Amino acid sequence: MRIAICPGSFDPVTLGHLDIIERASELFDKVIVLVLSNSAKNSMFTVEERMGLIKKCINNPDIEVDTYDGLLVDYAEQKGAAAIVKGLRAMSDFDYEFQLALINKSLYPKIETVFLAAKGENMFLSSSMVKEVCSLNGDISSYVPKEIVKDINLRCKGEK
Ligand code: PNS
Repeated sequence: MRIAICPGSFDPVTLGHLDIIERASELFDKVIVLVLSNSAKNSMFTVEERMGLIKKCINNPDIEVDTYDGLLVDYAEQKGAAAIVKGLRAMSDFDYEFQLALINKSLYPKIETVFLAAKGENMFLSSSMVKEVCSLNGDISSYVPKEIVKDINLRCKGEK
């Protein structure tokens, strides 16, 4: 079975993430969406909450949601994963993603990183943008799955 991992902070998951996850599941037998904490980012949701939000949006037995407290490649090796799948938006993503792909390959040579080009309409979309729009009372419903719009709005208003 060919397993792919879609790793990220997913704080919160966006329609851009979901598109990449669903397209990865067309290419691999099983996809694990791996929620990791990124020490460089302040988070709005805890890792457990982020996992819950992703699970609300996905109804596909070939897609699992998990978390791991350690190196992504150690998790990939434990699971026997063949690839890490990441979305690329603009060139601005490339430097960082290429560095991650190279360090991951150097740590665990069996892993491949596969980049999928983001859809045109998601080129500008990021979790940070969603949080900014939401915190300024903007409408986020075009950017995140409908199942979680309310959760994000409530958190932005500090009500949950
Ligand atoms: O959504 P993000 O924040 O761009 O995702 C980055 C993430 C979480 C995938 C990356 O920081 C990561 O892989 N973290 C786990 C620790 C690790 O393996 N780092 C790479 C080697 S230094």
